[in-house]
Amino acid sequence: MSRPTRVTIDLKALTDNAQALRKQAGNRKFMAVVKADAYGHGATECADALSEHVDAFAVAITEEALALRSAGIEQPILVLQGPHSADDLEAAVHASLWPAISNHDQLDWLKQSNARFEAVWIKCDTGMHRLGFSPDSVATVRQTLASIGIRKTVLMSHLADAEHLESTVTQRQKRAWATVTQDTKETSLSNSAGLLGRAADNETWVRLGYALYGGSVSEKTLKPVMTFGSQIASIRCIEPGETVGYSGRWVAKRASRIATIPVGYADGYPRSARDGTPIGSSFGLVPLAGKVSMDMITADITDQPQLNVGSPVTLWGATPCIDQVARHCDTIGYELLTRITQRVPKLFYRT
Ligand SMILES: Cc1ncc(COP(=O)(O)O)c(C=O)c1O
Repeated sequence: MSRPTRVTIDLKALTDNAQALRKQAGNRKFMAVVKADAYGHGATECADALSEHVDAFAVAITEEALALRSAGIEQPILVLQGPHSADDLEAAVHASLWPAISNHDQLDWLKQSNARFEAVWIKCDTGMHRLGFSPDSVATVRQTLASIGIRKTVLMSHLADAEHLESTVTQRQKRAWATVTQDTKETSLSNSAGLLGRAADNETWVRLGYALYGGSVSEKTLKPVMTFGSQIASIRCIEPGETVGYSGRWVAKRASRIATIPVGYADGYPRSARDGTPIGSSFGLVPLAGKVSMDMITADITDQPQLNVGSPVTLWGATPCIDQVARHCDTIGYELLTRITQRVPKLFYRT
């Protein structure tokens, strides 16, 4: 491997996070959300590492679940979007998956097939208005499932604004949730922010993704699992008034030392990163200087004279953390994690 740009995945940090979150979840069951290749961390490797620490996994689509089954993952796997066709449903039966159903087409496919699922999750729309049965149709859906022999159901809903538990939309969702779950045995509302903000203490399952990977969600005990790193490939000195990179966005206000790092938007480093986006080094943070190119970025290292060609840099990881970088790119850490491209080698280790 010639280029030093890589993603390293700390599987011990992942399982430490799982243990910390399990404590927070108390007696609720723990579903690890490993959709989108475990938020860019490698679904097979993460599910394998987590298998003794969690009760089940969740993915978005059947294909993701089938890949986990092919890799030997035996725990229950919930497919959050449920089947997209009758064939999709059959594939889910064969792989012993748990479908989450959220509309009448899916219910019809279930009725028409002889599918015997161990459990079916019913998604209820409490106010996000993206997927789910309306609260007043949930009882009928449950009866229909019982009539075709599916007795174990879990009622789930998803919070639209879990980071803000006092917001109007969350309050409205919580009220709808309290009503619809009144006579329900198995329920699941909380994602990471919902768990850490105590959105629903009396549910059966929590469904955790971002926090598991060490995304901030204001929890200090969690560790970042992914480190996106590289090394300085080239350094040059420029005069005041000279510019760096495409369209000359960054203009030197003083004599400046500019480092070029071999990573760009084709690797998943966001093109939207503004000048000043922090980049970690052994001598402190250095600011991004100039537009992100396809294969390179540039940083102002004038204040870190110890940095040289070959010095390691951290694009995100412990410092700067992913949420810090995301704030400079008008996005969220979730998007950054899931947009690392195939070109970047992924290395797994346990600290
Ligand atoms: C339905 C559902 N549940 C749970 C999660 C996990 O959320 P988080 O990563 O914030 O924990 C997601 C993620 O998007 C989701 O779509």
